[in-house]
Amino acid sequence: MGKVILTGDRPTGRLHIGHYVGSLRRRVELQNSGKYDEIYVFIADAQALTDNIDNPEKVRQNVIEVALDYLSVGLDPAKTTIFIQSQIPELTELSFYFMDLVTVARLQRNPTVKQEMALRGFNDNIDGDGKASAEKADNKKGTPVGFFTYPISQAADITAFKANIVPVGEDQEPMIEQAREIVRKFNSVYGDVLVEPEILLPENSACLRLPGTDGKAKMSKSLGNCIYLSDSAEDVWEKVRGMFTDPGHLQVSDPGKVEGNTVFTYLDAFCRPEHFEKFKDAFVGKKSSFEFHSLDEVKAQYRAGGLGDMMLKKFLYEVLEDTLAPIRERRAKYEQDIPGVYKMLEEGCRKARAKASQTLDEVRKAMKINYFDDKELIEQQALSFRK
Ligand code: TRP
Repeated sequence: MGKVILTGDRPTGRLHIGHYVGSLRRRVELQNSGKYDEIYVFIADAQALTDNIDNPEKVRQNVIEVALDYLSVGLDPAKTTIFIQSQIPELTELSFYFMDLVTVARLQRNPTVKQEMALRGFNDNIDGDGKASAEKADNKKGTPVGFFTYPISQAADITAFKANIVPVGEDQEPMIEQAREIVRKFNSVYGDVLVEPEILLPENSACLRLPGTDGKAKMSKSLGNCIYLSDSAEDVWEKVRGMFTDPGHLQVSDPGKVEGNTVFTYLDAFCRPEHFEKFKDAFVGKKSSFEFHSLDEVKAQYRAGGLGDMMLKKFLYEVLEDTLAPIRERRAKYEQDIPGVYKMLEEGCRKARAKASQTLDEVRKAMKINYFDDKELIEQQALSFRK
């Protein structure tokens, strides 16, 4: 059996360096490793709509932003099929069949969905009159059924492509488990058609989740603590300049803390050995004898005292820009050819659909709902009815 990778993102915002470190960088490596037979990366617009019904423009705008982010980090349409979820109707069809294989109670146990519901203030306590309490309140936020069932639709996304490797973050583990259960159930009832996927978690746990520039646990649009892949160099510097470090590190000569210091967390994620030679000038200034050969040396100096936050941030800026500048350059090029980007997406959708529709043919056959294709069965039935 071939090695098939599939993963995707909800288009609810532009992608940031947390996405880059947590997933995009790895996807490009996987793509270029030549070890995989098929790679699918898709924009989960239908999933984004499950909690954005009022906001179709936002989702639409972010479809193109995410596509630009994909191309700019180096996903290559010649090697990776990039497509848009809603354009593959087979996924909706498969989700509908899968709904019969999952119980409401099972969905209610999904910890990620539970958390996400709490985060969005969804509340479905049903009162005596049959109305959800949230519907009576001003905010009127009950859980949309589509949102509640998105793990099922996600299982369809994965299995329609017979993907066996799904690179995602830890929070997606319950979705992959759900998909595996559905596959086992489907195959046991209808015969061996679908493939059980394996999760591929990020390698480096320090990279699992890059904190926001304010030091808060997560980069998030609503907290305004993200560095976007599409930020200008000036934006990046402004954000790095204002970054959270060690609040106790007041004077350059003071000893500083490395743990919990966001600048060091980012350096851990982005700094490479060659950066010390390349950017040694960033340290020229107050102490021209300042030279480092490894991140460990920088950390030791910071801990001992004598390394100022500004100098450190200047270095981080150079390190980040080493990765971000080429991404930004590629993005600028694609931004000048938006019709070309849509063409690429359309071609990706065409390829993706060909594969999904092949799987659905097998699914319908296994489920005995391929009424018009099974000539033999029609013949047999005709015979049995003939007097
Ligand atoms: N739920 C994923 C996210 O929020 C996006 C997604 C949808 C996905 N379908 C998928 C990821 C299938 C991997 C496989 O990031």
